[in-house]
Amino acid sequence: MSFDPDKMNSTFRGELFDFHGVSMIHIFTDNWENVQNFQARPDDILIATYPKAGTTWVSYILDLLHFGQQSPERQTSIPIYERVPFLEMTIPSLNLGVDQANNLPTSPRLIKTHLPVQFVPKSFWEQNCRVVYVARNAKDNVVSYFHFDHMAQFQPEPGDWSSYLQRFMKGKMVFGSWYDHVNGWWKKKQAYSNLHYMFFEDMVEDIGREIDKLCSFLGLSPSVEEKKQITGGVQFDSMKMNDMVNHSTATVMDFKISPFMRKGKVGDWKNHFTVAQSEEFDEDYKKKMKDPSLQFHTEI
Ligand code: A3P
Repeated sequence: MSFDPDKMNSTFRGELFDFHGVSMIHIFTDNWENVQNFQARPDDILIATYPKAGTTWVSYILDLLHFGQQSPERQTSIPIYERVPFLEMTIPSLNLGVDQANNLPTSPRLIKTHLPVQFVPKSFWEQNCRVVYVARNAKDNVVSYFHFDHMAQFQPEPGDWSSYLQRFMKGKMVFGSWYDHVNGWWKKKQAYSNLHYMFFEDMVEDIGREIDKLCSFLGLSPSVEEKKQITGGVQFDSMKMNDMVNHSTATVMDFKISPFMRKGKVGDWKNHFTVAQSEEFDEDYKKKMKDPSLQFHTEI
């Protein structure tokens, strides 16, 4: 089926199904064998996130750190989703994520995934690739996902907010349970040292500090001038205006419903959760998030 944004309708929207214990939609599982057999290279960098945790933000930072100086025209002509292919993506009418990754001319290759850790192609681990994982607090993450599911018309029908929230708590979201995702990757970090686990809230609090940490993980030392440029370029307002990173060129999203660069805040959940919803969510959260070493901030 080819996708025509002028004929968006509910039939294009994916339907959740159970895929090895994780809720998925077909466009992220249809190329499974090729995804699993993907041949990573030792210098590949994998950017892994639960959807809406700041994937685009960190992708753009890594792209600027590696290629911002070398090829300025890259910044003005290639959308971020082509510079950083989405490995498991098989959206009809777009190139397969695996093919895009295989055709990347850059070194290192920056590759994005939303897969829970157990689904990551094994060659990334075998090649000891660097992995950057970004996590975002559950409450803001679900709010952002709710708005995204309205505008990204390949996602399942979101329904109303209260049923959406219930679905999130049950883990019936595309790419499965947020709780399993952030915990699974957190555990992986204990065993796999080439994983940099970072938080959206820390990025909002102090992006310069987080870029410094990324640079030391990646073994990069940008000049003061370069770092200043990058820090300026990755501010929310700059990214929102930048057509190469704000997804305005993505035909599968309807910006009339909601922009991709929506608010970029910590604590927007307070504008969506009722007091009762927040209390129920917190109770449930305590049961699911047992590891005291993994802590999130819901406000800064
Ligand atoms: P909101 O919907 O809360 O605004 P992803 O790239 O993983 O899909 O994440 C998208 C979320 O990250 C959106 O959250 C978006 O606004 C936010 N985001 C992207 N770039 C940002 C930036 N430079 N500063 C703050 N938030 C940013």
